[in-house]
Amino acid sequence: MKPLSRLLPFLLMSLSLHAAEPDKARQQELIYLLKQDCGSCHGLTLKGGLGPALLPQQLHGKSLDYLTTTILDGHPGTAMPPWRGLMAENEARWLAKALQRGVK
Ligand code: HEC
Repeated sequence: MKPLSRLLPFLLMSLSLHAAEPDKARQQELIYLLKQDCGSCHGLTLKGGLGPALLPQQLHGKSLDYLTTTILDGHPGTAMPPWRGLMAENEARWLAKALQRGVK
């Protein structure tokens, strides 16, 4: 009983703070996808390849909305494909934030 009642406030807090974020397991899947799939064009370390580098310094000044839309819909007429269908909007947004922060 005791450990649970101590945990509860933290659980509730993290639920309300992160309601729009994918859960931890899904976050790991998204990072895996980023390194495997996105990495095939943007470079395994995201330093660029066929696609531009996706490091925080390159993304500086680009809005979260722009990055999220880019991931979801791609850039038509370029090699950047749409990922809608493979991930939800909140997941693309989370990934965009992770890129802005820098993914290790
Ligand atoms: C088949 C190759 C390819 C794959 C796979 C790919 N991209 Fe791209 N991506 C590109 C290219 C090429 C561009 C540049 C498009 C342009 O010129 O507008 C781009 C552009 C972008 C941009 C905009 C960068 C900027 O500075 O404006 C983001 C963000 C991005 N990709 C994220 C991703 C993510 C996240 C994934 C995986 C979910 C991914 N890409 C997978 C080729 C790819």
